[in-house]
Amino acid sequence: MNFRIAPSLLSADFARLGEELRNVIAAGADWIHFDVMDNHYVPNLTFGPMVCQALKKYAVRADGQPVPIDVHLMVQPVDALALDFAKAGADIITFHPDASTHVDRTLQLIRGAGCRAGLVFNPALPIDLLEWTIDKVDVVLLMSVNPGFGGQSFIDSTLRKAEQVRKLIDASGRDIRLEIDGGVKVDNIRRVADAGADTFVAGSAIFGQPDYRAVIDAMRAELEGAR
Ligand code: DX5
Ligand code: ZN
Repeated sequence: MNFRIAPSLLSADFARLGEELRNVIAAGADWIHFDVMDNHYVPNLTFGPMVCQALKKYAVRADGQPVPIDVHLMVQPVDALALDFAKAGADIITFHPDASTHVDRTLQLIRGAGCRAGLVFNPALPIDLLEWTIDKVDVVLLMSVNPGFGGQSFIDSTLRKAEQVRKLIDASGRDIRLEIDGGVKVDNIRRVADAGADTFVAGSAIFGQPDYRAVIDAMRAELEGAR
């Protein structure tokens, strides 16, 4: 399995975002997770498309390979901002279906703008909707905390939900990433992978430590041999 580690900039030093991005890429980040909060859908406020655009030039590896920017929209309404982020250089855009009036249309809009599209499910939200959308989804993001803040603890029922989504993805035969967001650390990442996840967001676990590479390496060591 090709696992991806997606550090969340939410826990980075906002006064030095470009440098933080460069450092975490040098430390081995596979995707950059960009948490957009609007003080309406969630009780917090972070950054918008202009900041994404400004950071885009830092999202490259030393060999010139681009690092995908994974924009997690915690905003309502969704559509206009999704398009702004597509223009600002987002590669993946995920949104909460409960924040969009027309989920199918929003998915089409994001893909039409040239990005990979994903649905985000809050801990208490059922995944029924996937039955009707799986052919238009590139990423399923399961929240393992309630959205709005970094540094919360992992909600265990997400593991059962991940197992269910893994079955749906495998049955679809499509290339869909199963991403988990919230409370992922070195000591639980293996359990999350064993439940079927392939992409792991980690904010405080990485940016809360002085040595980003040590954390990412320890996560990869935990993932060694999983599936
Ligand atoms: C929460 C965000 C998460 C958050 C994860 O609303 O979507 O991406 O940054 O942070 P940690 O890894 O600290 O739980
Ligand atoms: Zn997130």
